Amino acid sequence: MNHVTVLLHEAVDGLNVRTDGLYYDGTLGFGGHSEEILKRGGRLIAADRDRVAIDASRERLAQYGDRVTFVQANFGDITQTLKTLGVEKLDGVLCDFGVSSPQLDVAERGFSYMASAPLDMRMNADDTLTAYDVVNKWSEAEIKRILYEYGEERYAPRIAWEITKRRANRPLETTDELVDAIRAAMLGKALREKQHPAKRTFQAVRMAVNNEIAEIMSLLDALPDVLNTGGRASLITFHSGEDAPVKAKLRSFADGCTCPPGFPKCVCGFVPTMRVITKKPIVPSDEEIEQNPRARSAKLRIAERI
Ligand SMILES: C[S@@+](CC[C@H](N)C(=O)[O-])C[C@H]1O[C@@H](n2cnc3c(N)ncnc32)[C@H](O)[C@@H]1O
Repeated sequence: MNHVTVLLHEAVDGLNVRTDGLYYDGTLGFGGHSEEILKRGGRLIAADRDRVAIDASRERLAQYGDRVTFVQANFGDITQTLKTLGVEKLDGVLCDFGVSSPQLDVAERGFSYMASAPLDMRMNADDTLTAYDVVNKWSEAEIKRILYEYGEERYAPRIAWEITKRRANRPLETTDELVDAIRAAMLGKALREKQHPAKRTFQAVRMAVNNEIAEIMSLLDALPDVLNTGGRASLITFHSGEDAPVKAKLRSFADGCTCPPGFPKCVCGFVPTMRVITKKPIVPSDEEIEQNPRARSAKLRIAERI
C-alpha cells in the first residue's frame, strides 16, 4: 500500500514544529505528514477514522516509540479525543482532507469508479451508512442536492432521476451499476470530457457517506479552543467543497467584525482568535504535480492562534 504525501514539507513547515511541542495529525493516513512532524521533534497524536490506516502507520512509525499516540477517531471529535487523552492544548493541528490512495486502490471498499465492487465507501468499516444506502434509499431531491453541493455536478438532476428510475426495478448494488446510471444520464458531450464522467458523483456520494463537510466544520470550530497561543493549523483541501468552508472559517476567526463598513471603531465586540498566515493558499509546484498528479488540486491554508 502506498500513498504519496501531498505538500509534505510545506504543510509541516507551516506548523513551526518545536521539540517540546505537542501536535495532532487528524488524517494520519499512511503516515507521511506524521513522520515528517516526528522527524522534526515533538510528540504527536495521530488520528484516523480508518483502522487500516492506523495499523499500517503503526508499523511505519514504530521507531518513534511513545512520542506518538495512535487513536481511531474522527477529527470532528478532536475536543473529545483530547479530553479522553487528558490533553488540554496543542501546538499544532494538521489535516490533509479526503481519501487516501490505498483507500481508492482496494477495490472492495467501493471508493473507485474504476473497479467493480459493492457500493460501500465507508472510511470507517464500523460506520453504518454506506453508499448503497445513499444511492438506494435517499430521495431523488436529496441525491440531487449532494451531487450539486458536494460534487458540483451540473448533471445532478438527470443523474438523480436516472438513479431513482433504475432502483425502482432493482436496487443498484455495485460501483459498475452506478457508473452505468451516470453514463446513461449524461449527454455525449460530457462523456467525451477528459475527466471520468463518474468522478464528481462518486466524490459527492463518498462525502455524504462519511459526513465530510460536517466533520471539517466541527474541526474548524474547535481550533481556537484546542490550540495554544502561537499554535498553528495546516489544512490541505482538494476541491472547492472542502476549501470554501476552510477559507471562510479561518477568515471569520481573523476578521469576524460585524460592524457596518465605515464605522469609526468596532462596537460589535469581535475579538480575533486566529491570524491567517497564507493570504493566498500554497499550491504544489509543477514538479510535485508531475510526480503526483493527485496533488494537482491541493490547497494548503495555514493559520495561527493569537
Ligand atoms: C489524504 S489521506 C491522508 C494522508 C496522509 N497525510 C499521509 O501522508 O499519508 C486522508 C486520510 O484522512 C482520513 N479521514 C478522512 N476523514 C476523516 C475524519 N473525519 N476523521 C479522521 N480521519 C479522516 C482518511 O481515512 C484517510 O486515511
